[in-house]
Amino acid sequence: MCGIVGYVGPQNSLDVILEGLRRLEYRGYDSAGVAVLAGGRLTTVKKAGKLANLEKVLAEESLPAATIGIGHTRWATHGGPTDRNAHPHVSADGTVSVVHNGIIENFAVLRAECEAAGVEFTSETDTEVVAHLLAAAYRKTPAGDDRLAEAMRTVSRGLEGAFTLVASHADEPDRLVASRRNSPLVVGVGDGEYFLGSDVAAFIAHTSDALELGQDQVVVIDRERGVSVTDFAGAPVEPTAYTVDWDAAAAEKGGYDWFMLKEIAEQPEAVANTLLGRLGAAGELVLDEVRLSDQELRDVDKIFVVSCGSSFHAGLIAKYAIEHWTRIPVEVELASEFRYRDPVLDRSTLVIVVSQSGETMDTLMALRHAKEQKARVLAICNANGSTIPRESDAVLYTRAGPEVAVASTKGFLTQVVACYLVGLFLAQVRGVKYTDEVAAIVEDLRALPDAVATVLAGMEPVRELARSLADANTILFLGRHVGYPVALEGALKLKELAYIHAEGFAAGELKHGPIAVIDQGTPVIVVVPSPSSRESVHGKVVSNIQEVRARGARTIVIAEEGDEDVVPYADHLIRVPRTPTLLAPVVTTVPLQVLACEIAATRGLDVDQPRNLAKSVTVE
Ligand code: G6P
Repeated sequence: MCGIVGYVGPQNSLDVILEGLRRLEYRGYDSAGVAVLAGGRLTTVKKAGKLANLEKVLAEESLPAATIGIGHTRWATHGGPTDRNAHPHVSADGTVSVVHNGIIENFAVLRAECEAAGVEFTSETDTEVVAHLLAAAYRKTPAGDDRLAEAMRTVSRGLEGAFTLVASHADEPDRLVASRRNSPLVVGVGDGEYFLGSDVAAFIAHTSDALELGQDQVVVIDRERGVSVTDFAGAPVEPTAYTVDWDAAAAEKGGYDWFMLKEIAEQPEAVANTLLGRLGAAGELVLDEVRLSDQELRDVDKIFVVSCGSSFHAGLIAKYAIEHWTRIPVEVELASEFRYRDPVLDRSTLVIVVSQSGETMDTLMALRHAKEQKARVLAICNANGSTIPRESDAVLYTRAGPEVAVASTKGFLTQVVACYLVGLFLAQVRGVKYTDEVAAIVEDLRALPDAVATVLAGMEPVRELARSLADANTILFLGRHVGYPVALEGALKLKELAYIHAEGFAAGELKHGPIAVIDQGTPVIVVVPSPSSRESVHGKVVSNIQEVRARGARTIVIAEEGDEDVVPYADHLIRVPRTPTLLAPVVTTVPLQVLACEIAATRGLDVDQPRNLAKSVTVE
């Protein structure tokens, strides 16, 4: 939530910052702003609405040429999305301009103190207080190269909550200072130029050399001196260097109308990348990067999968597979609920945190809670260098490449695949599956990229269907077994993108309520399990289709190739390739992604940036 960019170097800072903000806009798009420093003066321009509004204003005003500056794209928390509440915020004396991501929980007390000292506030944000405090702390700090950093450390020590702050001071033409606690911040190191960003997308076009920062650290980027990092007490810290393996082109639309369409199309490759190098020649799992010893994995007697949004649905699917393969009990929890209900955790509990961004605040807090209780934490994550994998005991990267559209697609699919890998690896290490059983599932996993490609090649009828559903008021999604979380994910996609009321249900619950809302013509999308599924789940779902149809529903059925049982009851039939039951979500989710995307586009909505949402939710 909120995107932050900072730049010091030889280039025109405004160009670099706007380019970075364009790439970070998915993090929040309620307002945007920039501040550049030239000739000892800070010029700040900000505007409510999407970045395009700011760019329009900037095209009309000519900002002084500058080589240092900061920028922000906002997801509003404190104060509505107005020009005044947009960042950067400027101190009363005009010396400091600051951008912020997170929530300063004690801002009311700090604001009252500033107001008592005569400071007049111009916004309703929690952020503005930092601008005033930093200007005051700077005045009180002895002159010298460390002055700006020391002032920021002083301010940071007095703040509570979560924050990434980046500030520019009018008297410091060669350096920017930043501070972080709980919220994300990475440093980009170029040739004589330095970048700050909420994530690497901010500077991916300029450098692939990055530095990870830890908790409670202050960083200065300086034209001459480069990068220096300290903790909040001022002790020097050596940041961890890493190379970003995403190229700039991967974060472009590449000819597609929407990032989401591109990311949907990239799924066969993304799934193949998740599997790459992790399936051995003899049909065994090779997960050397999981830094948990075989003994630690053998000691596990309970698993929690903890996550939010689509990642939570990936966890729900994981439960079916991991329990079936390992016989270890698996509980799936929303991260926002996990730590508040005092879950039973100990050394033999494995907590799998699933997060595309690696920055979701609720998931991060759940992870920390799990570690305090001595549980082992394994992260399944897409973003290299993000906080969640850094704080976990072990990590399995999904390698989906940058996901820009707010609604997760390739991020989700690769999380599901990564969960399969973890489940199967546990089964292998613990010896609960024979080698040939593991090898057979490995073969099934190898077939997934082609199966997803086959689904994508047959999506034209889904696009047509989307056009006919664009005016629906309510759409229901039904599924059983692993089809249930797929139904939840399909409903989530539809509501977040198309703003249509949508609910996902376990098909077995139909008669306990949902069937009452079905009326003549209500679209009901049914995810049908394979006819080969256990205990005739398939037959039960076919009965459920008949039940909703008998009450007037328009049935849209997603079923395996060759499943003829569904044909008489399907008003629309979407075929997917035959896939073993537990792996089926990887193929059955895809038509639901395409459907939601196309319905939203038909309704003229912004597919990549749906209203009120943000990709990376860094506040609780
Ligand atoms: C937001 C995004 C979703 C995502 C969820 C969890 O709501 O819009 O697409 O599934 O956060 O994010 P994470 O990065 O932790 O997977």
